[in-house]
Amino acid sequence: MVGKQRSKRYTSGALFAGIGGFCRGFEDHSIDTSWACEWDDHACSTYAANFSSTKLHQQDVRDLRASELDPVDVLHAGFPCQSFSQAGNRLGFDDERGQTFFEIIRLLKEWGKDRPSVLVLENSPFLRDGNGGEWFLQVQSAIRRAGYWFADGNAQVLSTHEYTRLPQQRPRLFMLAFSTDHFWDGAVRWPSKLSSVKKRLEDYVEFDADVDAEYYLDRDNKYYRMIDGLRSEDHEIYQLRKYIVRPKVKGTCPTLTANMGKGGHNVPFIFSPRGLRKLTEFECAKLQGFDDLTFPSEVPRHARYTQIGNSVAPPIAERLGQAIAEKLQERDRDSDGQADDRAQVSRG
Ligand SMILES: C[S@@+](CC[C@H](N)C(=O)[O-])C[C@H]1O[C@@H](n2cnc3c(N)ncnc32)[C@H](O)[C@@H]1O
Repeated sequence: MVGKQRSKRYTSGALFAGIGGFCRGFEDHSIDTSWACEWDDHACSTYAANFSSTKLHQQDVRDLRASELDPVDVLHAGFPCQSFSQAGNRLGFDDERGQTFFEIIRLLKEWGKDRPSVLVLENSPFLRDGNGGEWFLQVQSAIRRAGYWFADGNAQVLSTHEYTRLPQQRPRLFMLAFSTDHFWDGAVRWPSKLSSVKKRLEDYVEFDADVDAEYYLDRDNKYYRMIDGLRSEDHEIYQLRKYIVRPKVKGTCPTLTANMGKGGHNVPFIFSPRGLRKLTEFECAKLQGFDDLTFPSEVPRHARYTQIGNSVAPPIAERLGQAIAEKLQERDRDSDGQADDRAQVSRG
């Protein structure tokens, strides 16, 4: 063959798509999004503005049927994490939001032989250890019964500040399962840490810029006084957790959470020449790894913050996408090799 062969592209479906953190990262690694499902109106507006060629099912995942969806190579689902988070109600599968995990399993079963080759899940790290490990065992057993390889090594906590160039600390649990119909085993080549990358908050946050007055806190605000007491000369990001300023690791940004959308003091702060101000939603998007995210004008600011806090960071999805694409390519080479062997036997 003359010239270089173009690498094959794969397809994916997105459940609980949010504004498409997984989709953005995977698309950078030869996995294109065929369809997505999300029920929140504002998240759908942002998703549609950024993924114009994806079929978006704006509905409750519980009403979605596999027969309405094109089969895909990869299914990803960052299902709601509030009930599995250490800071949440810890009700796990006793909470309606926690039960949405079983909607993923239902769809896999509805697809039957057409089920995706790869299943990718994302949730709170506490899902693995919380409730004495019982939640994770339930997840593991449901995924295996649906026809996937899924051992303990198929789940790993990855944090953006260790595995990507982003300065945000964002530890999340990622789970990768592989269909027993398509793979000989479920081995995962997890991304390695990027230990030598120098992080610079200044590449993400405009410490010297003057922004709209509404981002600033008054000097007599009690939160101003709390943060001012811990002020350092360096460029730092300060985050309030209930009644304390969260201790920070120098040069990093604390986890951006969906709580930011509740307003008040939930958005991290910085000191700029004009005073203490919240990070803008655009700075948060950058710290989450979105370089060119479009927010439609009808999406209010509070919803933009929620969407960013809810999102998977695209750069970590990109690294996982690479591992998944490599595993799919190996599968394709194996099945091409078997087809060649069969052709030789029938000729011989
Ligand atoms: C953690 S976010 C997902 C982030 C996303 N996977 C990504 O790649 O950036 C969870 C999303 O699930 C949506 N959601 C929760 N329950 C849902 C349901 N029953 N049906 C559809 N979407 C749902 C929420 O609105 C939220 O946007």
